[in-house]
Amino acid sequence: MMRISTLVLSAALSLCGGVATAHAQDIANGQRLSERWCSECHAIGSIPGKLERTPSFASIAAKQGVTADVIASFLLMPHATMPNEPLSRQDAEDIAGFIMAMKK
Ligand code: HEC
Repeated sequence: MMRISTLVLSAALSLCGGVATAHAQDIANGQRLSERWCSECHAIGSIPGKLERTPSFASIAAKQGVTADVIASFLLMPHATMPNEPLSRQDAEDIAGFIMAMKK
């Protein structure tokens, strides 16, 4: 159930051309959450990553086809290599906004 509504929501957000998400994101909150939950492995800004082979947030943002919606959806899906942090949809969008803000 959760999974389906998440997909519907992200599809709806994509249809709005990302305008809706841009307003909903709190980048400062995304930064706080990232430094707490993600810096253990990922390089974030001036904080170096501690785990080898883990892409830095800046390099994730620079990848072609990556948008805030893609990252937020990725964060809400269970996957093998990363621990499943207790993220709400809003937290995931804030983190996604923070990552995309690193794009040059
Ligand atoms: C235990 C180490 C670890 C932690 C903690 C971690 N990650 Fe990751 N992450 C990885 C590794 C390793 C990869 C690359 C392998 C893969 O794609 O599964 C990855 C991949 C990613 C990707 C996809 C990159 C791509 O190229 O598609 C995103 C987005 C991401 N992480 C975001 C986050 C966020 C946001 C957090 C904090 C909520 C986080 N990660 C916490 C280890 C971690």
